[in-house]
Formats: sequence, C-alpha cells, structure tokens
Amino acid sequence: MDKKAMMQTAQEMVESFVDLPTIPHVATRVIELLDRPGVELDEVADMILADQVLAARVIKMVNSPLYKPANEIKSVKRALIYLGFRHIRELAFTCSFVDVFEGRDGIFDVRSFWEHSFGVGVVAKIIAQRVRYPDTEKAYLVGIVHDIGEVFLSFYRKDAFRSLLDSVKGQPFRLVDKEAEYLGTSHSEIGYCIAKKWNFPADYCEVIALHHAPEDATIDPTLCAIVNLADLFCSVRQLDYGGTSWVSFNLAEEKAWAILRSYAPSLADLDVERFCYELDDRVPEIQDMVKSIFQGIGASEPS
Ligand SMILES: [Fe+2]
Ligand SMILES: [Fe+2]
Repeated sequence: MDKKAMMQTAQEMVESFVDLPTIPHVATRVIELLDRPGVELDEVADMILADQVLAARVIKMVNSPLYKPANEIKSVKRALIYLGFRHIRELAFTCSFVDVFEGRDGIFDVRSFWEHSFGVGVVAKIIAQRVRYPDTEKAYLVGIVHDIGEVFLSFYRKDAFRSLLDSVKGQPFRLVDKEAEYLGTSHSEIGYCIAKKWNFPADYCEVIALHHAPEDATIDPTLCAIVNLADLFCSVRQLDYGGTSWVSFNLAEEKAWAILRSYAPSLADLDVERFCYELDDRVPEIQDMVKSIFQGIGASEPS
C-alpha cells in the first residue's frame, strides 16, 4: 500500500477526531528534561507534588513488584530517594501518560493496552542494555508510547475496528496489515500524527511511525529495531492486548535483528531461548504494576 496515501488518510482521520486529548504538561516536561544536563531532583519532585493524582500514582507504582522496595514507601520524597533520578523521571512520565487514556476504552480495554505498552517499554530497556544502546531510559519511554495510535484508532473507529477483528477471528494476522487493508491506514501513521501534534521529539515520532518497519528508519534505526523486537517478544509472551493479535516470528528473519546484529555484533552469542525465559519472568511483574496503577485511585476498572 502507498505509504504517502496512508499518511494522508491518517492525517485526515486525526483531524476528524473530536476532543483529541492533549498531552499532559508533566510528560512533555519530562521529555524536555531528559536532554538537559544538570537538572535538579527538586524540579522533578515539585512537578510530581503539584499534581495529587500523579503523586498517588507514583506511590502506587513504586510499591509494585517491578521496583520491589523492602518496606512500603509512603511519600514522593522517599520514592525519589529510593529510585534515584533517572527512574523517578520514568515513573513521572508513565504515570502522567496514564491520564491521557483514562476512560477511553475502545475495542481494547485500557488495562490490556497498558500491559502491552509497559511490557514493550520494559523489554525495550532490557534489549537496549544488551546491545549497549547509550540511552536505555529513552528506549523505555518510546516503548511505552509506541502504540498510541492503536488506542485512538480503537476508540474513535470502534465499528470499523470491531468488524476488522471479527473478520480475522481464528486466523493468524498482524494487526498493522489488517488495519491498512480495512482502514487505508494503520496505528503507526495515526500515532505519528498524534505524536507530531503533541510535539514529541523527532526520534520518538520516528519510532511510533516505523516500529513495524525499522528498516525504513533514518534518524535512529537502532532505537526502532529495539522497539520492534520488544513488540514481537511481547506479542508472543502474553502481553499482546489480551490475545487479539496473533503473530509468530523467526528472529533470524527479522530485519530488526539484522539492524541490531550490525550495531552490536556480540548479539550473535545471545542464547535466545534463555533470553525469552528471562523475559517470561518479568510478565507477572508488569501485570501487577498495571493492576497497581489502576487500583483505588479513581481510575475506571476495565471490565
Ligand atoms: Fe504497533
Ligand atoms: Fe505494539
């Protein structure tokens, strides 16, 4: 399908979405702060404390199994000390981003969307560490936002999306291909248009647009390849929108793998099976973390 036409369709579609939410101030600030050396810890703490819902979410999340504190942490200040600077920024970004999607259950419920997104974030960070990508925090953040187009598409185009899913029931399919066939565009282009509207940095926009085609990336193909592989791993490891997308893959045939192999030749020695088991161990942690974010702070409980 013509990529230009798909982008054009996405642009028109995003323009037609009524009340498209804005990105929370905190999330944009966190992205900005990432690139600024010498940022004070207090600056981040103040940002979190200024927003009570955000502060509550941060506390919930820091106590989840993913961060494993020995004793319960009850204040933002303690969370800061426990997690340190880089982690607290990740957490502030994640928690503020959750707000954007509140009450926007589409064909996917918000919780399964988050399980997939956090899963890809966590796995992207692990892969980034393996290949010695210099900014593992960025890999985590772009992992979290890579599928934003999906949630909007499933929310704003409910009927079309439902018939798409009904038509492929029981058959193997990649969602991104089916979207192109049914809607003339996909969540990659939709997500890109939203990310542009939200003034995300160019490398974030590129990952959102090309996480299913990392070979087309020009700004940061390595980052696109990391997220692509993290996405594939999560799709076959119970972090896949509750089983809606059916995929299988052979690592050796993936273009992302070739990109990473040339970036980090040591990957040739990776025991893939063992690596997958390692990832499996993280799945319950991610599910628990998502549960902890949505419990008891006024967020809607997905049915
Ligand atoms: Fe995707
Ligand atoms: Fe994805």
